[in-house]
Amino acid sequence: MDNIYDFPHYYEIAFSYRDIPQEVDVMEQAIAHYSHIPVKTVMELACGNSPHMLELVSRGYEYHGLDLSPTMIKFAQEKAQTHNFEAHFHLADLVNFQLEEPLDFLYIMLGSLYVGNTEGLLNHFRSVEKALKPGGLYFLDWCVDFSPLDNVQDSWVMRRDKITVTTQYSTRLFHAADQLYQENITLTVKDQGRQHRLAHSGLRRAIFPQEFILASTKLHNFEFIGWWDNWDWQAPLQEGQGRAEITRPITILRRL
Ligand SMILES: C[S@@+](CC[C@H](N)C(=O)[O-])C[C@H]1O[C@@H](n2cnc3c(N)ncnc32)[C@H](O)[C@@H]1O
Repeated sequence: MDNIYDFPHYYEIAFSYRDIPQEVDVMEQAIAHYSHIPVKTVMELACGNSPHMLELVSRGYEYHGLDLSPTMIKFAQEKAQTHNFEAHFHLADLVNFQLEEPLDFLYIMLGSLYVGNTEGLLNHFRSVEKALKPGGLYFLDWCVDFSPLDNVQDSWVMRRDKITVTTQYSTRLFHAADQLYQENITLTVKDQGRQHRLAHSGLRRAIFPQEFILASTKLHNFEFIGWWDNWDWQAPLQEGQGRAEITRPITILRRL
């Protein structure tokens, strides 16, 4: 079966349920409250199709995207060219990357912190530490696993320009001691009367909350600012008795 990330247009439709201007509002509120430096340059790790790029650039930020897939980067680059602005792309692995100079704000969306083991997680923090200016924020969407490694199942349908994309998402515990689970994403696309099936499947290491804090703040130079359920400042996860279900939590670190 073809890979999802070789078809960025269909990927973009599948994950277009987000309210991008509202998410950029939240990112700007995070900067206003917690960044110790003014922000001009932003970088999205695992940027893929760069869904927030147009909104960020229209608000005056210089956009950088980093991804491992040349096809996804080309798609995002063409989007920038079509809208006639300059953006900067880096073909690199988020586990181990190096920039020419550090930037003001880094972010990562939709749980894209793909690491295969503990060393990968530590290398990631080491790379982000170098890529971010002191006082700058690292903003993460859904990258921390607040639930145990149960088997998750989800599916949804999105439509755009007479194209229908049905997404099926599932996870399955692979190795408990290594905290590895298998993630499967399948897109069933109906486009001009033809049906395509696209898939992505990979093993990833779960990142639990307290080890996330330990690795970022005790082993690397970050300060833990907080985490909030569902992008909602009124729903901090460090307060109260805990929630039955946590969906799309955001987490904020600040570089020391
Ligand atoms: C779920 S998509 C997220 C795309 C986009 N950021 C968004 O919000 O929709 C995940 C992206 O991560 C990229 N990716 C996967 N593993 C990666 C790695 N180790 N380093 C950099 N990018 C990676 C894939 O190529 C894909 O574009």
